[in-house]
Amino acid sequence: MMNIKKSTHSEWSSRLAFILAATGSAVGLGNIWKFPYITGENGGGAFVFVYLLCVLLIGIPIMIAEVMLGRRGHRNPIETMELLTEEAGADKNWHYLGWMGVIAGLLILSYYSVIAGWASAYVVKAFTGSFFDANAVAIKTVFDDFVASPVRLIFWHSIFMLATMMIVVRGVNNGLEKAVQYLMPSLFVLMFLLVAYAMKMDSYYQGLHFLLFPDFSKLTGSSILTAMGHAFFTLSLGMGAIMVYGSYLPKNISIAKTALLIAGADTLVALMAGIVIFPIVFSNNLHPDSGPGLIFQTLPIAFGSMTGGWLMGILFFVMLVIAALTSSISLIEPAVAWLVENRGFSRVKACVWSGSLTWLLGLGTVFSFNVWSNVKLFDRTIFQLLDYLTANLMLPIGGFCIAVFAGWIMKRQHSEQELNMATELDYIRWKVLISYVAPCAVFFVFLHVIGIF
Ligand code: TRP
Repeated sequence: MMNIKKSTHSEWSSRLAFILAATGSAVGLGNIWKFPYITGENGGGAFVFVYLLCVLLIGIPIMIAEVMLGRRGHRNPIETMELLTEEAGADKNWHYLGWMGVIAGLLILSYYSVIAGWASAYVVKAFTGSFFDANAVAIKTVFDDFVASPVRLIFWHSIFMLATMMIVVRGVNNGLEKAVQYLMPSLFVLMFLLVAYAMKMDSYYQGLHFLLFPDFSKLTGSSILTAMGHAFFTLSLGMGAIMVYGSYLPKNISIAKTALLIAGADTLVALMAGIVIFPIVFSNNLHPDSGPGLIFQTLPIAFGSMTGGWLMGILFFVMLVIAALTSSISLIEPAVAWLVENRGFSRVKACVWSGSLTWLLGLGTVFSFNVWSNVKLFDRTIFQLLDYLTANLMLPIGGFCIAVFAGWIMKRQHSEQELNMATELDYIRWKVLISYVAPCAVFFVFLHVIGIF
């Protein structure tokens, strides 16, 4: 039997608290900012189809596995992997998985915070009426001018990192639970209102067609990889974030049902964002492949022209910032938890160190939109490189290892006991997905991208 060291780890107050926090981690810039622009860049429907397939066959089983590993280990990802490796009598090297997760989290947060900074700046722009009656050209100019200024980007990036640190210092289940409780439902309501607005536009069906009608001739190896990487990114999988949240989960809660609920909510928000944005793109003769600025160049047009748009604009960007905050917390928590539990840092010191490092890294992304926009490595700017490295490589590799660990290394009796599914059949379904389907799918996508398959 495993020897459970006395742990200082706390627990969520209820199942709802966990669902809210994990949904808070999943729903963020990935759904509202990234999903529409990568869908636009990768041709629409067929890309969305692959993404949905990946969520279903790879994302959900891996989410169940990550929560399970976290709850069984009851520690930060690095120590959880150490402990579970010992329990399974497996090779020590498995704990590097925890390490890769900590590093991936900080790398993602470095650019995530810069984009969340844009959203914060747009709260002020919405408030001061910058979008009022503005046309698409004027709104694009506002955006281009903004990202051309390193000083302004650094300012907002710093504000966002500070806010993240201030929340993380207080611990994951102090305050965070309450914030998410109100945020999630409000975000849904606002998205529904925007969808209602989009439905009245002439180009609504053109937008819907672009988003949902799959034209498989537009699918390339790299867009398949991007779709798979995004399934990991949007569900916060592959780096231990959900593992950390799972580690605070009380023992008597059904992991599988909870994971389905979280993945469902996350997918819904992304699809709603797409339904809102593409009609605006087409009715204003904009291009779906405008890149990371897409939502900042489209949504303000809607806010500038609709009744009540001033207030809607402010509310929307405020909620986007809060949604980003509840995600960014989960990106840095693995590093902080490890420094505190393993290196004896105080929580404050751990936050200051990991936060400063991330802030510094973020400058690379800031400059890649202006002064270093021509600095390219492998044909990519620093921002694009970081995004590719983390979302398309590190997260799927991390997820692959988690699947192999949960499916092949961990003893069956342990996973069965931990998951405690309603029926034996449910367990077997998951076991097949996690042992065969998910790892093989990731593997074949990689082979496909390097041209072997
Ligand atoms: N899922 C979040 C989003 O969609 C981003 C995120 C938070 C994340 N934690 C993560 C991505 C952990 C990968 C891993 O915005």
